[in-house]
Amino acid sequence: MKRIAVLTSGGDAPGMNAAIRAVVRTGTRKDLEVYGVKLGFSGLIAGKMIHLGPRDVGGIIQKGGTFLGSARCEEFKTKEGQVKALSSLKENSVEGLVIIGGNGSQTGSYALFKLGFPVVGVASTIDNDLVGSDITIGVDTALNIALEAIDRLKVTGSSHQRAFLVEVMGRKCGYLALMAAIAGGAEMVVLPEVEADPEEVAKVLANAYERGKSHAIVVVAEGANYNAQKLAAYFRKHRERIGFTLRVTVLGHVQRGGKPSAFDRILASRLGAGAVDCLVKGEFGVLVGWVNSKLKSTPLVDVIGKKKEIDMELFKLARILD
Ligand code: F6P
Repeated sequence: MKRIAVLTSGGDAPGMNAAIRAVVRTGTRKDLEVYGVKLGFSGLIAGKMIHLGPRDVGGIIQKGGTFLGSARCEEFKTKEGQVKALSSLKENSVEGLVIIGGNGSQTGSYALFKLGFPVVGVASTIDNDLVGSDITIGVDTALNIALEAIDRLKVTGSSHQRAFLVEVMGRKCGYLALMAAIAGGAEMVVLPEVEADPEEVAKVLANAYERGKSHAIVVVAEGANYNAQKLAAYFRKHRERIGFTLRVTVLGHVQRGGKPSAFDRILASRLGAGAVDCLVKGEFGVLVGWVNSKLKSTPLVDVIGKKKEIDMELFKLARILD
């Protein structure tokens, strides 16, 4: 193998730049030429590639986002799109590809691998819903951003005796919401994995009010059956029951834009370097992740279409510590 490429795909995650940097620098050390693909799979289809040397990835480890750009590409989900991507790799003499991204992106990795191309995935998504990595690139930073917001909301909430419904990202996975609730000392957490009963949330808030709390926080995952807006609409009709006045804060993409934490920079550096090792060893069609505090490659076939389960013990803990 002489030439490899790297791309970032799907939702960006703080630490992606550190992973690209690791791929470029370890690749170059192993006498590989490294190319960066612009804008994920859409750039791959269009053949948008640039040569990257060690100096081209200087000064990016501390930056959020991905300097290569990312995209959610519908065309790549089709066989025609995948064949176009293969031709573009061939035209550019690329012999191996590192794909940094989450569930959707690794489904793309597997599609290219099944078409015979040497691909290695790197586990990166703030949702932490990817099987094959206990923790993925971006989670730690996103969690700390959510936490900082919660801490601030508690301050203003206490001044006004308010309850806040804080919505965090997580379309199908409540990991971020659950961890933010525990670390933020929230009164309640609402997850996509556990059907929420707004009556129960109302009871928890009323109980917190009666116990004399000056504020209350409910962390809600965006993908829960009752998201923050829906819960707020429910409570508008039953305002007198909860005691506190209520406000909604949707954190949304704010969580994705942060400067990567030390943890994410180190994790991304390890996974990026690990992906290059896999390509050099001829270990293709795998996801490089972090399992039991070690680098581990898992066949993509065992990763895609699966969903990491939420830890119900932690869910119970969040409820006990309210
Ligand atoms: O996949 C990560 C994620 O941030 C999810 O938590 C969120 O639902 C989604 O991406 C948002 O996607 P987009 O950036 O395309 O709006």
